[in-house]
Amino acid sequence: MTETVSVDLPGRAYDVVIGQGLLSQAGTRIAPLLRRPRVAIISDETVAALHLDALQAGLNASGITSECLTLAPGEGTKNWQALQTCVEWLLDQRVERGDIVIALGGGVIGDLVGFAAAVLRRGVRFVQIPTSLLAQVDSSVGGKTGINTRHGKNLVGAFHQPSLVLADIDVLATLTPRDFLAGYGEVVKYGLLGDAAFFDWLEQNGPALAAGDAQARVAAVRRSVEMKAEIVVRDETEQGDRALLNLGHTFCHAFEAATGYSDRLLHGEGVAIGCALAFDLSARLGLCAQEDPSRVRAHLRAMGMKTDPTDIDGDLPDAEALLDLMGQDKKVVEGQLRFILARGIGDAFVTADVPRETVLDVLRDALA
Ligand code: GLY
Repeated sequence: MTETVSVDLPGRAYDVVIGQGLLSQAGTRIAPLLRRPRVAIISDETVAALHLDALQAGLNASGITSECLTLAPGEGTKNWQALQTCVEWLLDQRVERGDIVIALGGGVIGDLVGFAAAVLRRGVRFVQIPTSLLAQVDSSVGGKTGINTRHGKNLVGAFHQPSLVLADIDVLATLTPRDFLAGYGEVVKYGLLGDAAFFDWLEQNGPALAAGDAQARVAAVRRSVEMKAEIVVRDETEQGDRALLNLGHTFCHAFEAATGYSDRLLHGEGVAIGCALAFDLSARLGLCAQEDPSRVRAHLRAMGMKTDPTDIDGDLPDAEALLDLMGQDKKVVEGQLRFILARGIGDAFVTADVPRETVLDVLRDALA
């Protein structure tokens, strides 16, 4: 079963293909984009060891030759130095304006390679082949690319849309359960922000999906990508609605900063906790039913996920310090924190109108 979602940006429309066996079909799917039968691939050592041979065989089957640069895995690679390594290597490979660069990996590789493609020769096309669930449902779609600097995460980058995304569901089999569930945090986010029926479906099908049911995985990735595509087409550069995709992220960023972006807390785990707290905040402000936060937590718990800051190993700063960390988030506008709140499951909205004391109360209760 293969599904295709179109991201209908005028003049830069592209497909996100979701299904099984896509690495072996990479040649036939990428060939129509090529002006000459060669591509440059950038990956990381972990992903390349697992999936590079299959990708190169899939390309070879269509007569496409490829060279690959492999980088060290992990968030530490999303930096200036790795950007330079990528760009210089792509130039060494004589990648031209009309060529295609392939990003094979999770969110780090997708963001870094997308940014390298954006600046190389003032922009070459690239194909995302996301290998984590998080990258398949979020970071590979929508054209946000970039690197981290000493000032913070993703502060340098560009909007550069891919020309094609191949989300091969089979590669998710190599993820650890923890990484898979972290990606699932972003899947749940879509139901919570804009599709109550999808959240109902996840309550029913989440366990099968986590256990490896390929049809359920394709369906969940497809619906997530469809929702992201709709939002990105409405608001590519995040002037308004795209911020809905940050449900749970304001809280998440504070916990990620407090845990030093270490593996004490994976990004998707922080998003899941952040979503639960965003519903706590919404309920406390009388915006959604008092039962909604419990329902969100019940599903996350049923999936074996973290739901509260107390689930994070080790000490955390107090509520005031966490609120300060939220204030350092790059999504702060004119000094005002923006929150994504909800009138109910599937009905989120963006606001800066949240009393500081109420946020502190939510954090204090969550830390208790
Ligand atoms: N990950 C949020 C966005 O793409 O806007």
